[in-house]
Amino acid sequence: MYAKAKLKNSEDYAGSPPKLKEGGSYIMESQSLENAAKTVIIFSPTDPNTAGNLAKMLKIFDVFNIDLSHIESRSSTRVPGYEFMVECDARNNPQLHDALDILKDKCTYFQIISRAYNDEEKVEDDVVPWFPRRIRELDRFANQILSYGAELNADHPGFTDPTYRERRKYFADIAYNYKHGKPLPHVEYTEEEIKTWGVVFKNLTKLYPTHACREHNHVFPLLIENCGYREDNIPQLEDVSNFLKDCTGFSLRPVAGLLSSRDFLAGLAFRVFHSTQYIRHPSKPLYTPEPDVIHELMGHAPLFADPAFAQFSQQIGLASLGAPDDVIEKLATCFWFTVEYGLCRQNGELKAYGAGLLSSFGELEYCLTDKPQIKEFEPAITGLQKYPITEYQPLYFVAESFDSAIEKMIKFADSIKRPFGVRYNAYTQTIEVLDSKHQLENLLQNINMEVHILHNALRKL
Ligand SMILES: [Fe+2]
Repeated sequence: MYAKAKLKNSEDYAGSPPKLKEGGSYIMESQSLENAAKTVIIFSPTDPNTAGNLAKMLKIFDVFNIDLSHIESRSSTRVPGYEFMVECDARNNPQLHDALDILKDKCTYFQIISRAYNDEEKVEDDVVPWFPRRIRELDRFANQILSYGAELNADHPGFTDPTYRERRKYFADIAYNYKHGKPLPHVEYTEEEIKTWGVVFKNLTKLYPTHACREHNHVFPLLIENCGYREDNIPQLEDVSNFLKDCTGFSLRPVAGLLSSRDFLAGLAFRVFHSTQYIRHPSKPLYTPEPDVIHELMGHAPLFADPAFAQFSQQIGLASLGAPDDVIEKLATCFWFTVEYGLCRQNGELKAYGAGLLSSFGELEYCLTDKPQIKEFEPAITGLQKYPITEYQPLYFVAESFDSAIEKMIKFADSIKRPFGVRYNAYTQTIEVLDSKHQLENLLQNINMEVHILHNALRKL
């Protein structure tokens, strides 16, 4: 779940502490709060083996009165020896740049990553927007949300329903308190909620055989067998997440509200999908103005079990890491026209694979009629396309196959201005930033091992 539109006025949120608003259902963690505006500096001293190097380096920060909130030393993957990572608040100290200039002169490797980054305010050319390197760092932005899940607009079907609002607050709170590694919250859905799910389930499953793509129809019976997908049962995120982990390593993570596009896409780089857990208002079972558990579980989950689709989604995520704001916008738009509203061609026929289609009875029927316009998916063009968010799409992009879409996304990612390559290491669940010869040699060695395994297996066939 991520924000489709930018905040009307980001000033409203900048610098304000999280607060409980009147009515007791609105908590906001500002983008400039703890961790949000932090600057991360990663550096390797010129002489990495000198004892006490870190202490000397830290002295520089001390001299310039810069408080560090996190200090870490680790084995460097770039150069023999160690590298250090420190975090400080970039905005509070005007002397930070002087300190960094001195530090830079004493280092063989030096990189600044800033959470406060945006294109307009960029202070230095070599600053890279912050992104998570370890899967547990997703906790850092999980609650930096643009609106809390319990906050409803005046035109929301549940706006005047206090019971529904209370329920939404319950769901927002359990997601708000979730941390990486914990089991996903188990929810006892009410009879009314199960009924709502059932109405949509019944309608959608009638259309899937003719309208959904092959991959969706292949996985769906497995979800019925393994995860309790039934008309009279709302599956638990934990069960679906475990199923996805077994299939492709994808996992679900509950989210309390709308994430920024940057943060939402970063999750995909780790094969983590931020998912809602509440359900739409019972008065309009076939309509929801925002993603809900039906959209996530009927629309998104089945495709994340498909290896090629999982890889495609992860490619969008990897391309987003450290990318400038305008690229994030394009990637989020590509995500919209593929993962959310994508069509594909199978055996000469158009089929739906986007979650927004597979979770909407009305639009799933409409998208395959001759009413909407159809264009071929091409990231550089698709990424610039404007789209409505509250009505059926007037235009869909068609992928010839997930494999060809992956290829196109990789090519598009290559065109992104970024001083390093990134790779996801599934063993350590970390993002490897590839910007040294040493790392590339290691990677080549790993690939050689894989090729050896491949040769060996081929010989035995
Ligand atoms: Fe979605």
